[in-house]
Amino acid sequence: TQPTVIAPSLLASDFAHLADEAAKVAPEVDWLHVDVMDNHFVPNLTLGPPVVKALKAATDVPLDCHLMIEEPERWAVGYAELGAHNVTFHAEATDDPVTVAKNLRAAGSKAGLAIDRDTPVERYLDILPEFDTLLIMTIKAGFGGQKFMPELLDKVRTARSRIETGHLDLRIEVDGGIASDTIEQAAEAGADAFVAGTAIYGAEDPAAAALALRRLADT
Ligand code: DX5
Ligand code: ZN
Repeated sequence: TQPTVIAPSLLASDFAHLADEAAKVAPEVDWLHVDVMDNHFVPNLTLGPPVVKALKAATDVPLDCHLMIEEPERWAVGYAELGAHNVTFHAEATDDPVTVAKNLRAAGSKAGLAIDRDTPVERYLDILPEFDTLLIMTIKAGFGGQKFMPELLDKVRTARSRIETGHLDLRIEVDGGIASDTIEQAAEAGADAFVAGTAIYGAEDPAAAALALRRLADT
């Protein structure tokens, strides 16, 4: 696997001070995870392109946009054009994930495919070469602060084995309930990018919490 990526989820930060919240963790993290929700794909509503544009101007940390939205074929490329490092959309939200991925790469970002709690990973293994990241939810998408579901790590194991046998070059990112008591099992299963909201922004010192998670993932 590649060097560990730690990606704090801004969903758990103070939305009135996003630039400060980004700066707090910047020295210790690889990406900033930005959860975009449209109240249709998930029953929650967060932020969209104007806020991503403002964040891009406010931080040098690469933005990892996680689109929990319908119609990614309509919206995803806009995030790439705003300068997102990686744009991840949900497999459940489109009939044509390969075209969306190609368009993202053409627009200059990395392409990510997300798999929600109830979606099997097997049906997407053959299209993994089109992607730079595979985001496997370890909760049901929609809200921060939920309990980690260890049984979903079987999907990480399945994907890791395909990546190895196929000599593929993509990351496996896990999202949901990642904390000091769960990150090691996720790493063991084969994840190499870790989103953490509550475990980082809920901590007294978010940068220290991010560093501690990295150490655990690397052991
Ligand atoms: C939820 C989001 C997550 C969320 C994770 O659907 O995709 O990124 O912020 O929050 P925690 O780490 O608190 O489970
Ligand atoms: Zn997320």
